[in-house]
Amino acid sequence: MMRFPGILIAVLLALGISGKASAAASVEEEARTVVHMLEYVGVDYPAFVKNGQVLDTAEYAEQQEFALQCLSILKQLPLVDAAPDLVAHAQKLQERIGAKADGLEIAALANALRQEVIVAYKVAVAPRKKPELGTAVALYDAHCASCHGATGGGDGPQAASLDPAPRNFLDTAAMDVRSPFGLYNTITLGVAGTSMLPFTGLTEEERWALAFHVADLRVPADELQRGEVLWKNGVGKEDFPNLTAVVTTTPEEAVKKGGADLAAVLAWLTAHPEALGNNGPSPLNLTRDRLAQALDAYKAGQPEEARRLSISAYLEGFELIETALDNVDAPLRKQTEREMMALRSQISAKAPADSVAASIGRINGLLEQADDKLSGGGLTGTAAFLGSLIILLREGLEAILVLAAILAFVLKTGRRDALKYVHAGWIGAVVLGVLTWVLASYVLTITGANRELTEGITALLAAAMLLYVGWWLHNKSNTRAWHRYIKDKVGGALGSQTLWVLAGISFLAVYRELFEIILFYETLLDQVGPQGHTAVWGGVVAAATLLVIIGWAILKYSVKLPIGPFFAVTALLLAFMAVVFAGNGIAALQEAGVFEATFVRFITVPVLGIHPTVQGLVTQACVLALVLGVVVWGRMRMARVAAQ
Ligand code: HEC
Repeated sequence: MMRFPGILIAVLLALGISGKASAAASVEEEARTVVHMLEYVGVDYPAFVKNGQVLDTAEYAEQQEFALQCLSILKQLPLVDAAPDLVAHAQKLQERIGAKADGLEIAALANALRQEVIVAYKVAVAPRKKPELGTAVALYDAHCASCHGATGGGDGPQAASLDPAPRNFLDTAAMDVRSPFGLYNTITLGVAGTSMLPFTGLTEEERWALAFHVADLRVPADELQRGEVLWKNGVGKEDFPNLTAVVTTTPEEAVKKGGADLAAVLAWLTAHPEALGNNGPSPLNLTRDRLAQALDAYKAGQPEEARRLSISAYLEGFELIETALDNVDAPLRKQTEREMMALRSQISAKAPADSVAASIGRINGLLEQADDKLSGGGLTGTAAFLGSLIILLREGLEAILVLAAILAFVLKTGRRDALKYVHAGWIGAVVLGVLTWVLASYVLTITGANRELTEGITALLAAAMLLYVGWWLHNKSNTRAWHRYIKDKVGGALGSQTLWVLAGISFLAVYRELFEIILFYETLLDQVGPQGHTAVWGGVVAAATLLVIIGWAILKYSVKLPIGPFFAVTALLLAFMAVVFAGNGIAALQEAGVFEATFVRFITVPVLGIHPTVQGLVTQACVLALVLGVVVWGRMRMARVAAQ
């Protein structure tokens, strides 16, 4: 028991942060390289091979080399379920390049394959955070101007001695076929065989900022202004729903799709990515994508993969906007959630593909409605405030109840030395929670399933510890027993084991939800946009105040109770919280897909940990039975003692 917290932290880190992250990143990096090379082929090949004529043999050889490289990397990458035959497509591309096929044909093949690879290996094509362009000018001056020139003209002091010459960013013909994603790739990977080296010393965010910056260098200010006016009048809203769309579109493609106006909008969005409502795919789009992938996997005879994807569709997407949706249409939220759970049961039960498809169709319909509800002028100030208030109040209430009960106990027994254990517990949880979040945002990807797994296991551990302390308190709840206890253990009233349990509970009660709370707020802040931030922070302050008042009231009034009832009440509160934690812990593990969820007709009351599944209810009933058993047994024993 003594070493428990240390072990616990190790376990939590291992659970929360998947060791697979680095392996996954390297596959993604390889795929990204393929994407990058295909982009080059798509753009450059048509310039060097026209009507079966090779115009530049060196360049042509390079294209052949790229095609060969793509093929060999794709052969090595792990096979992806339900992906088109990427190797066959790469082979075809290589053969057609060998046959000096026409530029347009090769460009089409290369672009199609590029898209397939992006989808199959889930290559992240958008920055994780909207780039801060404020830093880009200084970065450019420090790292790029010496070659590319102060204004981007390709005429920096070093340029004259370089062959090939640095790219002229003011050259419209060349830059029109570059997307910010393509530029980002060049900055990240460099151009082999030239003085353009990979800028791996810069952070991902800095490289993105530079990509956005150089993409717009040639665009005159009045064109940007024109783009801004157009965007604010609604032009491009459908073409550029998110950052991904912006970074993968070249100006040339924009012109093809929507004329010079759309290109102006693209240029403006590239200069002002903060104008986009969502960072990367919105949670709902992500849910749609994952559901579509789940259906593909299911049809391809991979129910396990389909199940995993359907879980992730919920956890990485929909769950993050639940609170916001609750504020505008709670029944819609509940219905969507139910449908998504039903989908998982269908997949587990190996239902026919048609009915799985129908189920996904229904969910998509509901998501559509949710989109409408949420985008209706964005969240109003009141909705943002309420959403924020509810998140913290809902997630924080359990923690405050537990902390208050434990603090009351410590104060009541006059064991102020135990206070520091309790405080160390929750402060440690806050620190570790923030640390987990930082790791999750900047270093590793923590999947929704891992999040729920951590939450579930910590909840069950907390439930077990609460039962232990509750039982211990209960045993002391008759005054005589308590006096004997104090007499027996003067000076060491709380054994070190109990102190650690107190610290552990205080840690678990707070750590459990913290990471998720931060994530909820991140999404909420993103949803409301900068003008709603004040409302969100207002909600945080209001909720925190309420929580402190609740905790304070419990402390104040419970400490006034005479010692017997005090222990009885505290023990009861802790036992009650154990039942709540057990229910919520099982629910989290069901969301993570560890346990099956067998739904029954019953009420849903998350604050009491009640979720209508057989597994959750049975667990809660067992904990309740245990508590009642201990109480009854205690009574009987006391009656026996009294009778003697
Ligand atoms: C030592 C000189 C040098 C420095 C410093 C340098 N570059 Fe380059 N860069 C080049 C050369 C040379 C090329 C052309 C390579 C080619 O022709 O394929 C190039 C090409 C590029 C391209 C490719 C454009 C395209 O058509 O795809 C981008 C983007 C780019 N550089 C961005 C940057 C950025 C951003 C920086 C600063 C972080 C930078 N470069 C620093 C020499 C340099």
